[in-house]
Amino acid sequence: MAIHLRSAEELEKMHRAGLIVWDVLNALRQLVKPGLSTMDLEKFAEQKIAGLPGQPAFKGYRGYPCVLCTSVNSEIVHGIPSPKCTLRAGDIVSVDFGMVVDGYYADSAVTIPVGSIAPELQKLLDVTREGLDRAIDKMRVGNRLGDVGHAVQSWVEQNGFSVVREFVGHGIGTKMHDEPNLPNYGEPGRGARLQEGMVIAVEPMVNAGKPAVRMRDEWTAETADGSPSAHFEHTVAVTASGPWILTRPRDVTGPSW
Ligand code: MF3
Ligand code: CO
Repeated sequence: MAIHLRSAEELEKMHRAGLIVWDVLNALRQLVKPGLSTMDLEKFAEQKIAGLPGQPAFKGYRGYPCVLCTSVNSEIVHGIPSPKCTLRAGDIVSVDFGMVVDGYYADSAVTIPVGSIAPELQKLLDVTREGLDRAIDKMRVGNRLGDVGHAVQSWVEQNGFSVVREFVGHGIGTKMHDEPNLPNYGEPGRGARLQEGMVIAVEPMVNAGKPAVRMRDEWTAETADGSPSAHFEHTVAVTASGPWILTRPRDVTGPSW
């Protein structure tokens, strides 16, 4: 029921997992190009983590079959890699990846352009990424969960896009999904107060069109109106000195992705 508060030692363990997650996603950002299938991305990720400490967090989770989720264009989250899904220039692909190392989880996602993309799609990516930045900046002692969700929602809606309601950010630690839930909407001053040691996977999912979701198959969530959707995520700790992004190296600063 309670929200866990993690010690400095526990945060270091989550950071170890987070650095592997970042390495994989960052390498995939460089790798993605027209002609690759989403299964090619999966195979690349599997090879990259072979021999490293820990395990991929998603494979086997409630029967999920892969180490990555790859969600293309109107797919929002939890797309399953497939050799039949070939990326084409102008597509966007959201890649979500998690690791558990020594019992501690890290979870992150990035939406990657395939070749050159339309300006409106680039705006969707920029607005979603900045939504994550704005949310992370609210991850400070004394703020409330509603402040974080509101930061995302107000920014996204101001830009003419919509936030997904059915999927939310989540506490993370010794489980991938823990308390609290963090919706990408909310009212300032409402919800649980953030405390030192809380760790949350902050993950705006933004649709270019309407917010409604439908299920394409058992796993894949897509926009009901067929509009494109973007997803950026980091695992973020609340510390005395401000937000700490556990899913990237300490010396990487600036925008979240
Ligand atoms: N990263 C996803 C999340 O934050 C988890 C993927 S679900 C899985 O909820 F089943 F694919 F693992
Ligand atoms: Co997550």
